[in-house]
Amino acid sequence: MRDAAPQTIYLADYTPFGFDVDEVHLTFDLAPSATHVRARIRFSPKPDATDRTFFLHGEDLTLLSARIDGETVKPKITPEGLTCDVPSIPFTWESHVQIDPAANTALEGLYQSGGMFCTQCEAQGFRKITYYPDRPDVMSTFTVRINGPHPVLLSNGNLVSSGDGWAEWHDPWRKPAYLFALVAGDLIAHRDTFTTMEGRKVDLALYVRPGDEGKCAFGMQALKDSMKWDEEVYGRAYDLEVFNIVAVDDFNMGAMENKGLNIFNASAVLASPETSTDMNFERIEAIIAHEYFHNWTGNRITCRDWFQLCLKEGLTVYRDSQFTSDMRSAPVKRINDVIDLRGRQFPEDQGPLAHPVRPESFQEINNFYTATVYEKGAEVIGMLRTLVGPAAYKRALDMYFDRHDGQACTIEDWLQVFEDATGRDLSQFKRWYSQAGTPHLSVSEDYKNATYTLTFTQHTPPSAASPDPQPLVIPVAVGLLDADGNEVMDTQILELTEAKQSFAFAGHSAKPTASILRNFSAPVVLEFAADHAALLAHDTDPFNRWESGRALALASLLASITKGTAPDADYLQGIATVLRDDSLDPAYRALMLGLPGQSELAAALHRKGDTPDPQATYEAVEAMKEALAQTLKDDLPGLYADNQVTAPYAPDAAQSGMRALGNAALSLLTRLDGGDTAQAQYGSATNMTQQLAALANLIRAGRGDAALADFEAQWKDDRLVMDKWFALQVSEAKPDDAADTAKALTRHRDFNWKNPNRFRATLGALAQHHAGFHAADGSGYALLADWLIKLDPVNPQTTARMCSAFQTWRRYDQIRQSLMAKELDRIASTPNLSRDTTEMITRIRNA
Ligand code: BES
Ligand code: ZN
Repeated sequence: MRDAAPQTIYLADYTPFGFDVDEVHLTFDLAPSATHVRARIRFSPKPDATDRTFFLHGEDLTLLSARIDGETVKPKITPEGLTCDVPSIPFTWESHVQIDPAANTALEGLYQSGGMFCTQCEAQGFRKITYYPDRPDVMSTFTVRINGPHPVLLSNGNLVSSGDGWAEWHDPWRKPAYLFALVAGDLIAHRDTFTTMEGRKVDLALYVRPGDEGKCAFGMQALKDSMKWDEEVYGRAYDLEVFNIVAVDDFNMGAMENKGLNIFNASAVLASPETSTDMNFERIEAIIAHEYFHNWTGNRITCRDWFQLCLKEGLTVYRDSQFTSDMRSAPVKRINDVIDLRGRQFPEDQGPLAHPVRPESFQEINNFYTATVYEKGAEVIGMLRTLVGPAAYKRALDMYFDRHDGQACTIEDWLQVFEDATGRDLSQFKRWYSQAGTPHLSVSEDYKNATYTLTFTQHTPPSAASPDPQPLVIPVAVGLLDADGNEVMDTQILELTEAKQSFAFAGHSAKPTASILRNFSAPVVLEFAADHAALLAHDTDPFNRWESGRALALASLLASITKGTAPDADYLQGIATVLRDDSLDPAYRALMLGLPGQSELAAALHRKGDTPDPQATYEAVEAMKEALAQTLKDDLPGLYADNQVTAPYAPDAAQSGMRALGNAALSLLTRLDGGDTAQAQYGSATNMTQQLAALANLIRAGRGDAALADFEAQWKDDRLVMDKWFALQVSEAKPDDAADTAKALTRHRDFNWKNPNRFRATLGALAQHHAGFHAADGSGYALLADWLIKLDPVNPQTTARMCSAFQTWRRYDQIRQSLMAKELDRIASTPNLSRDTTEMITRIRNA
């Protein structure tokens, strides 16, 4: 039972726990509906503590007994935890609780998935396992004994000993409870080893359900690559004798960095050419790296409190993007990251869910694992590195690891090492952590007396989260080109600190062409009437070259939507020229064929004071694709043919790039040949990238039925592939059919709505289908709301995350707004709505 009025937690209220936890011993007797957990914990009162309240978190626990130094005690129990009188000298706390993993559908704490036991404790799941000070600044060593009939019994750290029906693990590294993990099941290990730069041998294992053995090799290689990369680039070696990864089918997130025992959503680790697309492979490589990198940025150095989440997540996202850039193509990775930032973080920062990278209050912490904390958090670190330079960044990071190893830290600690390593004052830069909203950067140019001057004005729209925004420190990477496209000034980093600021470049005998915000050096909305056509043809900065094409496409689409104009011929020709340039990386050329997303277009219209019409937006994008197909009609067959890979499948950057370009060509070609090429590709495909692309094109061409049936027959027993089958039908549906398609799929016998992957594949795909979700009759809104209401009591975390589909509701016309308001109110008035969903709906509705 929850309180009627949810409590708000404030950063400003932080107080340390009054006790040190010296060691934790846990014993689990596993049983699906009645698992017994015995805890023996050594507490020492802190001599300097101001608050000695002995409060242990605990939720959904049945306390069977509690003792202090062997004497039975009767703690005072509430739905949130217990308090108890305790000695003023060190003492041993023992508790015995019973929990019900089989009834745990929220997938937080100890639960069951496909017959195995597993845990998810971040952020506050450990309190559903036993009574404990469940806060990240309380760190301890853990010794865990597991009793259970399962062949595989795992926990954090190193295996101490084991026998038939039991195993004992010890983790020597002090850690917060959110990094605790336990797994028990009938699992198969895919094993390997890694020798650290210090010469220590580490046993690696990837545990999967029987049948999935053939999907382990790629993940294992990604793990070894990550371990090596972190040694080479950050000087960080692994620190235990074993590193285990477990794949589970039911998981709310992508993966979790538990110390020495990472737990992964099966979709984020299992891979094979037949069942996974190139994009899946790339994502798996990145997630494995991300969770592994947390071993230093998150585990060895953790967060003082959950307001500091970006300390580990922003930094680790930044590190995993550096890794992907090194393993694959840096410009391609940068472009994809910016597409993602604009698609997920900008809407959040520009709507009712806006919050600073370091929020100052929350009701449910699970709602703050956001694109702002993660992706903007990573951008802030990228800006810091740009400002101080790579050498100083490295010095600061070395100092960070040196100074704070074993500690639970804050953003202040993080910025302090940069100040100490560089002598810079970062007080203004720190606003990036405390101020919400996407800054707008408008630029004007002036040229006289051989001097070219750029004047920048920065403005962050005020919001409820930040009503009085102040100027930020914005690193703007700028280069200058001459009329022939030669670079006349290499990239320079301009440091904006004022609301308005000019920079003059002398000695230019002709007016240069400016390339501004190269490599997207700051997460801002740039407003500059650049010479996009020239930059698309010549910019030496690959990001800005792509960005120029994107800007032309955006301008053309906005004009089509608002004025009914035809697609911009200069844009079409510019793109055609780039696509014909065989010296350019195929992956990069494939990105050049991409168009701004429809919700990005809606956001741009909204920014200009227009009301986006989702159907008109959809039609403008269709018309643009048609125009691209016509412009490139003589090139497409060759482009398609030249990018067919004949070598054995490899998920590497080179082959994936070719397939990406080949399939980008295919989607235009399908408009010309009605799907004949796609049909042939479907018939001959030997990997999922080719099979799925062919299927998508057949659906778009209106001839997908046979292939969909064939695909289902082929893959009905593979859950991860069937998720694609569910998702694709929704995402490729015509706007008017999207909700009906999703609804029909919810009646499919394999629609297991309690599985987050399947729920997201179906309803999440609808939420992301811009014109389908916003269908004029409100059917998209109603269907999503129906299912959110149904899922909430079962899995509040996944429900709450999906509420963000409604975050942009104020952008649209009055009719759509009232349809959405009606659904928001319907969700809000559902009896016993979770704290998670209540917070999300309230914030969104109050826009
Ligand atoms: N620590 C998180 C997992 C997590 C998130 C646990 C929210 C509890 C609540 C993990 O490191 C993470 O960030 N995972 C991401 C993937 C990553 C590549 C950004 C995820 O699960 O989406
Ligand atoms: Zn993370």
